Amino acid sequence: MREARPSDFVVVANRLPVDLVEQSDDGPARWQRSPGGLVTALEPVLRSVEGSWVGWTGTAGVALDPFIEDGLALHPVPLDEHEVAEYYEGFANSTLWPLYHDALVAPTFRREWWHTYQEVNRRFARAASLAAAQGATVWVHDYQLQLVPHMLRKLRPDVRIGFFLHIPFPPPELFLQLPWRKAIVEGLLGADLVGFHLPGGAENFRYLARRLSGPSSTHLSAGGRIDLGTRSVRVGAYPISIDSARLRDSSAEPNTVMRAEQIRAELGDPEIFLLGVDRLDYTKGIELRVEALRELFVEGELDPEKTVMVQLATPSRERLEAYASLRDDVEREVGRINGEFGRLRGPVVHYIHRPVARDELVAMYTGADVMLVTPLRDGMNLVAKEYVACHADGRGALVLSEFAGAAAELRRAFLVNPHDLEDVKNAILSAVRFDDPGLTRRMRTMHDHVMKHDVARWARTFLDDLQTA
Ligand code: ADP
Ligand code: G6P
Repeated sequence: MREARPSDFVVVANRLPVDLVEQSDDGPARWQRSPGGLVTALEPVLRSVEGSWVGWTGTAGVALDPFIEDGLALHPVPLDEHEVAEYYEGFANSTLWPLYHDALVAPTFRREWWHTYQEVNRRFARAASLAAAQGATVWVHDYQLQLVPHMLRKLRPDVRIGFFLHIPFPPPELFLQLPWRKAIVEGLLGADLVGFHLPGGAENFRYLARRLSGPSSTHLSAGGRIDLGTRSVRVGAYPISIDSARLRDSSAEPNTVMRAEQIRAELGDPEIFLLGVDRLDYTKGIELRVEALRELFVEGELDPEKTVMVQLATPSRERLEAYASLRDDVEREVGRINGEFGRLRGPVVHYIHRPVARDELVAMYTGADVMLVTPLRDGMNLVAKEYVACHADGRGALVLSEFAGAAAELRRAFLVNPHDLEDVKNAILSAVRFDDPGLTRRMRTMHDHVMKHDVARWARTFLDDLQTA
């Protein structure tokens, strides 16, 4: 194992791209791909530029020296049990995550969590400063590490610092609830460039920076920069994407096409194959799509004999009450629809509460007639783009929530308000009119967009702006 050396390009994120998984049978621990869209997007970026990645291994109490895994230079940051509970499960995922997602679940504000969040951010800043060579570019990611830009600038004034938020940045009236709002804004203002998915997030941040850092020291200058007196911070919108060509190519491989057909056969050769792919998170609107399908069966609009849905739901943040109770709700809804409409030869909704291998996932995207992406709020939603990338032939249809960042680009999807069940039902019915030639045109337009706007372009645009910030 070669040891990692200081790099000219450093990614800093809460998680490493791989998670350390301890075996239950005392076998050796192994690495597996970490969950979530951040890792999906950044892994190909880091591979193309040869840099280092600073992050946590996903397991409490593990301290490892920097090392190389599968060609990537990794710098692990240890977290103990207490820090996992207060920084990760507490401040990051019970305060910031719900607050930034429209307070779909009430955010909890606890001073002790905030203290641990500060301590852990300090540790990440120190680890980043050790991983970065003189004059390096350091790219800090997401809501777990919003204090790192400011802390790192103090430790290493020589490095260039970018920050990107992968989740929505909330409107001022929500953000202002946060007792530590000023410190968070100041943490972010330590960066040279702060990026969001959408212009609305960037605008919210500019407004809050002006309001919270005081009008005398902070004002907006041309081009949306925030002028801090001694230096300025650039703020912009950079909609993230995927490695589109890789997905398109892998969906066209003979093995994938064969597996896609096999999956349909295993599902009983339905006329309509609907697919949902999510982390099991309350932002994703998983229950409501099952509910919409059930009503369509009850009303006789869709035939349960000819329709099958597959819902993949990767386990996520399982120790948190909001996630445990969501799991109960989803499993109850799935049980209910299968109880009413399932057959001896199989259920109408196949629910898989495990991560699925990448090849298998691509085969499902390729085979599915309709992709259901119905979050109540989502920064981008890469699943929507992944499905579109797998449909170069123009087959398939996407039902997409207006409240996903992806809706700003994928305008030819069947856009729905996920709070309006009738709207979701109507969109599903439009998406299964397979004889409508408009479906192919819609998919081709979206496919072309995703092919052009891939993750390499996203990273290039952000990093070019960072160099000139
Ligand atoms: P989030 O980052 O909130 O989880 P995204 O849709 O942006 O949402 O990204 C999710 C990523 O995780 C995608 O790359 C998707 O392919 C992957 N993923 C989601 N669910 C599964 C699953 N059950 N098995 C394997 N990969 C999954
Ligand atoms: C979202 C967040 C990421 C996070 C991922 C998985 O994509 O933006 O920062 O890593 O979800 O969540 P987890 O809590 O398992 O890291």
